[in-house]
Amino acid sequence: MRIDKLLANIGHGSRKEVKQLLKNGVVTVNGELVKDGKQHVDPEEDQIVIHGEEVYYREFIYLMMNKPPGVISATEDAREETVIDILEANHAVFNPFPVGRLDKDTEGLLLLTNDGVLAHQLLSPKKHVPKTYFAVIDGEVTEKDIEAFHQGVTLDDGYVTKPGELKILKSGLRSDIELTITEGKFHQVKRMFEAVGKRVVYLQRISMGPLQLDEELDLGEYRELTEEEMALLKNSGKE
Ligand code: URA
Repeated sequence: MRIDKLLANIGHGSRKEVKQLLKNGVVTVNGELVKDGKQHVDPEEDQIVIHGEEVYYREFIYLMMNKPPGVISATEDAREETVIDILEANHAVFNPFPVGRLDKDTEGLLLLTNDGVLAHQLLSPKKHVPKTYFAVIDGEVTEKDIEAFHQGVTLDDGYVTKPGELKILKSGLRSDIELTITEGKFHQVKRMFEAVGKRVVYLQRISMGPLQLDEELDLGEYRELTEEEMALLKNSGKE
């Protein structure tokens, strides 16, 4: 592939910035200075060095974000800020996209990647990947709701949900709950509570498949997945 494309892909700036980098004479391939972005390199074989440091090509990127409220889970939007807009340039350059959607006001675990195969596996309805949410509910959540969610509830459009596992953490005029579902219908958690006459006032995703939201991440922060998380993800996809 072209050296300028490779350098842009691994986060060394836009094509224009990469051109400048090459012009500055700081890039060598197998020890030879390269100034022309059109030069072809073999990412597997050639030794590419920038500012004296060897760079490693990679195709895919996997980011765990603690999505803040107020941004939308899309790659671009004319009016609203998206989760991609809040990435640093060296990550955005990989063109990641969110794996599934969280509502604008929902917080928590969002995986971003440019690995379409993995994204497809996680989103495929056939895989039944569990997603767990923490929510604050306006209203008293009871054993009856646990049973209703366990049976499946009928949403406003007549769809009957697959069983959801509801845990009551605190019950009162406002209740704290955790709900695990294996589907991802539009506004599913909010609509499941509407189906039992209650309203979600705060929603946060805390896990997706084998991934748990890293509590060290503040809202709007993100990090690359660890090797352990990657291994868990890849294994869970095979089932
Ligand atoms: N269910 C919802 O209602 N909203 C989300 O953002 C995710 C699940």
